[in-house]
Amino acid sequence: MINPMSMYDKTVIVTGAASGIGRETAVLLYKLGANLLLLDIDESGLNSLEKELENSNNKIVCAVVDLNDFELVKKIIIDSREKLNSVYTGLVHCAGIPSISPLRTISNDHYEKVMRINSQAGLNLAKIFAGKKGHDMSKQGSIVFISSVYGLVGSSANVAYAMSKAAIVGMTKSLAIELANKKIRVNCVAPGFIKTNMADNVNLLFDNNYADIIERMHPLGWGEALDIANAVVFLLSDASKWTTGAVFNIDGGYTAQ
Ligand SMILES: NC(=O)c1ccc[n+]([C@@H]2O[C@H](COP(=O)([O-])OP(=O)(O)OC[C@H]3O[C@@H](n4cnc5c(N)ncnc54)[C@H](O)[C@@H]3O)[C@@H](O)[C@H]2O)c1
Repeated sequence: MINPMSMYDKTVIVTGAASGIGRETAVLLYKLGANLLLLDIDESGLNSLEKELENSNNKIVCAVVDLNDFELVKKIIIDSREKLNSVYTGLVHCAGIPSISPLRTISNDHYEKVMRINSQAGLNLAKIFAGKKGHDMSKQGSIVFISSVYGLVGSSANVAYAMSKAAIVGMTKSLAIELANKKIRVNCVAPGFIKTNMADNVNLLFDNNYADIIERMHPLGWGEALDIANAVVFLLSDASKWTTGAVFNIDGGYTAQ
């Protein structure tokens, strides 16, 4: 049977793999046959994922790393090629942090921290992936960034996060043009609210009605991590071979209103 989303010939780097959208993406890629390099700063989350994926035929390398440490990330990515016995065909940058902070409370340190992991780390990862020791130039490569509906529409007390996610949209379009001649496609997914640890942590800042308010903001209600993982896998797969520079809103209708 033909499966246009087959990942059997793919080797993919996934950041933020210990939790939420990154974890669900890693599990789906694994089920579809991909070899994986899984990166996260959260050691226990990554260990539990490694256990969940053991006994597979896929080659999997897990590495605990702070993605802000560019040199170490580069070394891990290059060294892991040998362990995976293949070259990379895909990169997904899921790692990120939320930021609920009104304008008056935003310091330079806070702004830089949010920008560094949410968008700058993605830029550095793309640089490694597009470099000589990154992806295989004889095959098509695919980079997928995770933006947010807040990279597209406004929201109060969210300016640092929104700037970091809007930067991903700009980065996606510019890199799509720059890397096309290297056969690398670059796209991003802009999720609405998804039930993950990140959403739970934001939830804690508000009263009990928060979950209901979020539900009502989306015509299709809350999303699940798998809704985003499916879109990411499509963008990594050959089924999207003519798609680049796209912003794929997967948001239960949030931005249709
Ligand atoms: N959950 C949502 O509602 C939602 C909505 C829109 C966009 N997003 C975006 O989706 C992505 C994934 O979010 P999630 O909800 O799965 O969050 P999550 O908190 O469940 O997962 C994020 C992962 O990133 C890792 N991480 C954070 N900083 C890191 C660093 N410096 N180095 C390495 N790893 C680091 C964390 O350890 C964690 O495992 C984020 O970019 C987020 O902004 C989430």
